[in-house]
Amino acid sequence: MSFAQAVRGISGKRAPIWLMRQAGRYLPEYLEVKAKSSFLEMTRTPAIAAEITLQPLRRFPLDAAIIFSDIMTPLEALGLTIEFSPGPSLEPLRSRAQIESLVLRDEVAPFVGDALRIVKSDLPADVGLIGFAGAPLTLAAYVIEGGGSKEYARFREFLRREPAAVHLLLEKLTDLTIRYLRMQIAAGADAVQLFDSWAGLHDEPTYREFGLPYYKRIMEGIAGLGAARMFFALGASHLMDAIAEIPSEVVGVDWRTDLRVARRQLPGRTLQGNLDPAMLYAAPDVLAAEARRILAAGSGGAHIFNLGHGIWPNTPLDAVAHLVETVHTYERI
Ligand code: CP3
Repeated sequence: MSFAQAVRGISGKRAPIWLMRQAGRYLPEYLEVKAKSSFLEMTRTPAIAAEITLQPLRRFPLDAAIIFSDIMTPLEALGLTIEFSPGPSLEPLRSRAQIESLVLRDEVAPFVGDALRIVKSDLPADVGLIGFAGAPLTLAAYVIEGGGSKEYARFREFLRREPAAVHLLLEKLTDLTIRYLRMQIAAGADAVQLFDSWAGLHDEPTYREFGLPYYKRIMEGIAGLGAARMFFALGASHLMDAIAEIPSEVVGVDWRTDLRVARRQLPGRTLQGNLDPAMLYAAPDVLAAEARRILAAGSGGAHIFNLGHGIWPNTPLDAVAHLVETVHTYERI
């Protein structure tokens, strides 16, 4: 069964597989490119971004490619300057006035569209092409904090002190994201994934106020364009009822939620996931058994095999090969 069928809810004999963060960091051929150019250069040069996108597919028979970029990349279109070292950092936004002064430009990261077009022309027809964006609440955490953080204390304080300013920021990030994802779909993305990597910071009422309305708007804003909509939130077992209200064809599940539980919470959706990325360090037979357990758990409907979060930088390549082989040879019942 192809990725294209699985996103449409068709559950066949075999589950397709791709891996979150499959392009980059753990591949020697990526590190070679990285030795010659900065991360920003790599994302902004379509030929390089396209090459890195295709690297994992030359090594492993994956069923989809995800465009090489970053969730912070489109923020330049709001006038923000992002640096990577390697995590993103920027001048934090800490006042309503700063948020008010952000103006969305017409063009959002056009080089990502160019990279998608190059990849599309190189990709076999049965391999899916995935575009992506960061979910506004996750992007807001980064831009108010000024970068990554363990607890996002400054962001969470600001959200309580200035909720209206945060809503204004989320409005702007939502407009940006709709424009950005529409551009990626027009450039050939078969599916687009919204990454809400910091959803787990929030309780359900907060998530319903500051996440949900914006995510609904984004998914409605890209409906009917021929691309599957995929939503992934990390650490969000306690938010599944809310996530079920976000229109999407596919929901990504992290490794902490059993796929059978997710299936009950998300009827009719294609599920994506959910191997613990650390399992790629286990003995080969343990890894294979765990992959099969997940395939069985996902067999009550359409399932795209994936990790429960991004692949780790020093993951052994033979484990990735073994995983892909295990998934491709498993017959679903
Ligand atoms: O498959 C892919 O890797 C595609 C490209 C991709 C990158 N970032 C490249 C990158 C994707 C899909 C992302 C998404 C992303 N970026 C997320 C959402 C997914 C997740 O992991 O939760 C988040 C939260 C970010 C923010 C970000 N960017 C972080 C935390 C870092 C630090 C280092 C790292 O790799 O996580 C980055 C930088 C970044 N983005 C790198 C890469 C390859 C490292 C750059 C380098 O090697 O110098």
